[in-house]
Amino acid sequence: MAVRRLAPKEIQPASFAFSAENLAWAKKQMEKFPPGRQQSAVISILWRAQEQNGWVSEAAIRAVADLLGMAYIRVLEVATFYTMFLLEPVGKKAHVQVCGTTPCMLRGAGELIEVCKHRIHHDPMHLSDDGDFSWEEVECLGACVNAPMAMIAKDVYEDLTPASFNKVLDGFASGKPVKPGPQIDRQFAAPAGGARTLKTVESK
Ligand code: FES
Repeated sequence: MAVRRLAPKEIQPASFAFSAENLAWAKKQMEKFPPGRQQSAVISILWRAQEQNGWVSEAAIRAVADLLGMAYIRVLEVATFYTMFLLEPVGKKAHVQVCGTTPCMLRGAGELIEVCKHRIHHDPMHLSDDGDFSWEEVECLGACVNAPMAMIAKDVYEDLTPASFNKVLDGFASGKPVKPGPQIDRQFAAPAGGARTLKTVESK
């Protein structure tokens, strides 16, 4: 995983402003916390900034800090710590975060990364030729039981193979994303193939 830094100054927009709708939403989030604790809303509001802009610019970090009465460095720390925050421009249709931590690697994450390299760009955090896709390898995203997996926006796609991963990408390319979650016959994190225990009830 690469060091997470802000995008170069040359591509940073000069300013960021929430839309009226998003500003009203952000203020509602702030009201959820007791007086003086509004900074607890920082993650959700940063996420909204990302959803509005596609990625988190330095101007967006400053705008969120101003809104919450926080030091800029505190919001920068949050934005650079969590890989869910994208610090430079990403694909218009999808930015793919492939988990490369041990359980996913043991279950084939390397093949998913090869798909990204061939289909999107050889290097992470580079746009595809059409600007629609980008990808990066990230640390464990907490869905190890359904490894290997990838996250796109706020959805996770699990139990992937190169073929099903290509279908997921096809869905974003055509504007008809496939259903998130396991891409095999598995209910959430239940055993693949159905229940394996408690299948019989002992009669007395
Ligand atoms: S190791 Fe990939 S989700 Fe945990």
